Amino acid sequence: MSTDEARFFMDIFLKVALQAAHRGGQEILRHIHLSYSIAVKSTPVDLVTDADLASEKAISLMISEHFPSHQILGEESVKPVDWNDYLWIVDPLDGTTNFTHGMPFFCVSLALSYRGEVLVGVIYNPISKECFWARKGEGAWLNGAPIHVSKTEELQKSLLATGFAYDKSIREKNNYREFSYLTNLTQGVRRCGAAALDLAYVACGRFDGYWESGIKAWDIAAGSLLVAEAGGKITNYKGGPLNLLEEELIASNGHLHLPLAEALKDAKNYQL
Ligand code: IPD
Ligand code: CA
Repeated sequence: MSTDEARFFMDIFLKVALQAAHRGGQEILRHIHLSYSIAVKSTPVDLVTDADLASEKAISLMISEHFPSHQILGEESVKPVDWNDYLWIVDPLDGTTNFTHGMPFFCVSLALSYRGEVLVGVIYNPISKECFWARKGEGAWLNGAPIHVSKTEELQKSLLATGFAYDKSIREKNNYREFSYLTNLTQGVRRCGAAALDLAYVACGRFDGYWESGIKAWDIAAGSLLVAEAGGKITNYKGGPLNLLEEELIASNGHLHLPLAEALKDAKNYQL
């Protein structure tokens, strides 16, 4: 494929991803004023609502209309997929718990990957109307303006974010030691409740870094591309390349990557 052809397809991929994210956002907004039902999934605090399902249905429909041969991995309809093919990775509503409490920090997160590499990522908050997107090798954007990670060079001057898995009450790697330790080393650690937005905020410099373990591909696929394209760094906890199926990642502005990774190791011995 020539460079012009590749660009042509990337343009179409991004256009459809943006349209689909906005369609998902419309469905979420539509449900705010309805008496939607809430069900539980893996644990009693892992929620799914009619808004998650409606958003995923609308997004999947739009993707398959445009790209019938592409595969879709959606959080609410997980099925075996071929990671070597064109694969859309969809979180139709990231921040479901926030959504059910009326806290306006939730979003749609969409990514297109090919052979495990994310090519396009879109994260859309339908309340604030902030739309973040990135294309591999072409930078990251917020509502049409280029974005960059922060310049913070010391943990002590940083604002970080993290999250906790839904099985936190029983899992060994529950992130409590890491959260406490980093809270003491930094200006603060936020737990806002939507991993995709946390990553988008690292990309645009509002947060200096983010980490989480027990996190799924649909939570981090789009955000990982945004951070990388905004000049930041993304790795697993060992400092190796991110694998979307490994369920852990560290994201940072680059300057803080090593100090953050080291602090996460040191936190193992921290006494709560
Ligand atoms: C969750 C949120 C949360 C993170 C959890 C995710 P969901 O996604 O991103 O911030 O800590 O690990 O599962 O369930 O709201 O789509
Ligand atoms: Ca979700």
